[in-house]
Amino acid sequence: MTATKTTEAEMRQMAAAPALLDIEHLRIDLPGRGRGDSMRRVIHDVSLSVAPGASVGLVGESGSGKSMTTKAVMGLLPKGAKVSGAVRFRGEDVSTYDRKRWTAYRSHDASMIHQDPRSYTNPLVRMGDFLIESVVATRQMTRDEARDKACALLREVGIADAARRMEQYPHELSGGLLQRMMIVMALMPSPSLVLADEPTTALDPTVQSEVVAILSEQIRERSVGLLFITHDLDLAAAINDSLAVMYAGVIVEKGPSSALVAHPRHPYTAGLLRSRPRLDEVEELRAIPGRPLSAFEAGKGCVFASRCEFATDRCREERPELIEAGGRSVACHRADELSDVLVGGSA
Ligand SMILES: Nc1ncnc2c1ncn2[C@@H]1O[C@H](COP(=O)(O)OP(=O)(O)OP(=O)(O)O)[C@@H](O)[C@H]1O
Ligand SMILES: [Mg+2]
Repeated sequence: MTATKTTEAEMRQMAAAPALLDIEHLRIDLPGRGRGDSMRRVIHDVSLSVAPGASVGLVGESGSGKSMTTKAVMGLLPKGAKVSGAVRFRGEDVSTYDRKRWTAYRSHDASMIHQDPRSYTNPLVRMGDFLIESVVATRQMTRDEARDKACALLREVGIADAARRMEQYPHELSGGLLQRMMIVMALMPSPSLVLADEPTTALDPTVQSEVVAILSEQIRERSVGLLFITHDLDLAAAINDSLAVMYAGVIVEKGPSSALVAHPRHPYTAGLLRSRPRLDEVEELRAIPGRPLSAFEAGKGCVFASRCEFATDRCREERPELIEAGGRSVACHRADELSDVLVGGSA
């Protein structure tokens, strides 16, 4: 009886607790890249949450706004960006952060792992110094403590000769090894949130799966919240609890990974599933017709309307809201009618 009461109380507390990361109706306009260019919308509407210890895959084609979303979360948007909506970390709107809080947030609360580790290392700095730099500079640890922690973490990500690796320069390491170092770098301050922006896209497929497995394991062991960004729906579904599918600056569908892959509710998600090669299926691959659009190219209606085989006049005229029902969210006027028509796959 007591045990049941405790569980209920815990559940109420969990429901009341703010998400670790909460992005609500994020919209971003950036100044055009040419002189005299007007503002361009790069994100129309992004809402997603990462609960403490949960992993969310943000999936979308090139230019859909995935990296821009992470930049908004890290407060690293290009100069002149106009932002509306909110990004909240533990319930606190990050737009209220002052300089000191931003430094603490970026060096302790939230870590980033980037696609191309080489461009984030300094060719003249040994890996050991690089790994401990931030936590020492922000006085989270002494140099000795930081070196010990780095060595321990390097071993945990499968780098046995940690002490030797710490003495090496980035050019002496392979891409896979360097990305494991980046995982260590991200974990050094014991963050509660990690944003991984296409962390394995630049790696060979075999090394890719190794690095993904290591990242996933480390994140789960530490109950760190993860926002994993990728264009690969299969990869995202394999390692994340839930998925958010993005197209032209809009989240078009969200839900638990296995349910979303088995029963896509948005025609774009269904199109992505149909266009991926599968070894266990002989069915012909069907590419989504047309080319991916950037947010500023989308018309006033549904951002996917120009490529959607189910689009009606309403879809071209009126942008659908992301509607939540039964743990799934979909932004499609025809979601109910299409629920038996759209075909999924296996995760
Ligand atoms: N500094 C910038 N100024 C203006 N527009 C930009 C800038 N950086 C990116 N964009 C535009 O913003 C949109 C979203 O870019 P973003 O980098 O977020 O895409 P992405 O989904 O991460 O793509 P990829 O998979 O190629 O990394 C694109 O149309 C891009 O051209
Ligand atoms: Mg990107």
